[in-house]
Amino acid sequence: MTGLAQEKIWLAGGARLSGEVTISGAKNAVLPLMAASLLTGGECIINNVPRLDDVLVMLSVFKELGVTADFCGHRLRLDCRRVRPAAVDPRVLGRIRASNLILGPLLARFKEAEIGACGGCSIGSRPLDLHFAALEALGARILPLENGYFAFARDLKGAQVTFPFPSVGATENMIMAAALAQGRTVLSGAATEPEIVELAAYINAMGGKVTGAGTPIIVIDGVKSLHGASYTVIPDRIEAGTYLLAGALSGGEVFLRRARKAELAALLSTFDAMGVNWRETADGLWVKGGRLRSTDIVTAPHPGFPTDLQPLLTAVLCTAQGRSTVRETIFENRFTYVAELKKMGASIQIRDNCAIINGVPALFGADVAAGDLRAGAALVLAALAAEGESLISGVEHIDRGYEDMVPKLSALGADIRRVKLRAQAV
Ligand code: UD1
Repeated sequence: MTGLAQEKIWLAGGARLSGEVTISGAKNAVLPLMAASLLTGGECIINNVPRLDDVLVMLSVFKELGVTADFCGHRLRLDCRRVRPAAVDPRVLGRIRASNLILGPLLARFKEAEIGACGGCSIGSRPLDLHFAALEALGARILPLENGYFAFARDLKGAQVTFPFPSVGATENMIMAAALAQGRTVLSGAATEPEIVELAAYINAMGGKVTGAGTPIIVIDGVKSLHGASYTVIPDRIEAGTYLLAGALSGGEVFLRRARKAELAALLSTFDAMGVNWRETADGLWVKGGRLRSTDIVTAPHPGFPTDLQPLLTAVLCTAQGRSTVRETIFENRFTYVAELKKMGASIQIRDNCAIINGVPALFGADVAAGDLRAGAALVLAALAAEGESLISGVEHIDRGYEDMVPKLSALGADIRRVKLRAQAV
């Protein structure tokens, strides 16, 4: 028997949250911006970078690629002059799905790239077929390796590409590959997420020519080379959604500094249906909870309800008055956390890709385990509302995507802390 120190989150529910929380930079915008920095040998500076594990793992990938990085506070300086495009151990690449975003920029600049087999993850199989088909339309060839893929091209040439589904990652990879391709690329059926708009703006700040980002048709005119740039990333809309839902659930009043209404429209109209009060101010969003009503939502690509907030909304609806339905249309396996919510007294049935939630008067504290990032955040929200104490394991998933979640909730009045427990392994 060995004693392994395992970190968990301990939480005593019932606190009414109040006060102010500052929203960090957007994880899902920073990762593609980091990847796009590989398009140039010039110095790139990204400001407002959240200090969280996905960024640190991406930096370990960059280190193996030969990138010099200086991450000080929330300012990340990248020097990609001496990049070795196929030098990364596929096992390191496999640790973070977003590492597939190095494919487009490395192909564009060096005409070759290697990525790891990111494989499936707990929320779904997550294949890369849309990335590969689009890059092949530009002239790339992709060969499977034992632990990943090798991509190469003699030249990348602009093309007309239509996505059958608006994949966020495939749209990002194509914008980066086409930025240095010969001639014009027109992407139809592209993803319209705010993070795509950020990537296009960053590439344009580097001297690129990308128009139409934020709409389903994006036009990229390839340029011969790109230069370094300095850019400040937008606030994280999913982190903002998390604290909005936490405020609504606890019945308190919370102000989210830097949160922006435009990127959270789907959640805010759901709040209107649920009877949650919210208001936009000059520098953020304010939310006030109360007795919540049930609602019905369907996840969809932007501007629809974001799949990344689906587990968190389900957790909040557990104690809303009446029967709610939450239908998941983006990932095929995103309800695994429901079994954990049931341990806390939730009444939820899963039928196909739909959760049917019957609101209960109260949840109760329990020992629960997070299987992925947003599932972890959902369990934290449920524990905030629950009567009694909860212990949440799988904290490493939460650390992937939230900067300082425990101190931020604690500052809002939650009775929450990280604890190190000796797990007994046999
Ligand atoms: C990004 C976000 C993730 C979010 C998701 C959907 C980052 C780092 N991650 O992930 O948080 O949940 O968008 O908003 O930005 N698909 C294919 N073939 C492909 C690519 C995707 O079938 O080649 C499928 C996926 O399996 C999934 C769906 O399309 O079912 C959406 O995936 P996609 O939009 O590509 O998500 P990611 O870019 O991986």
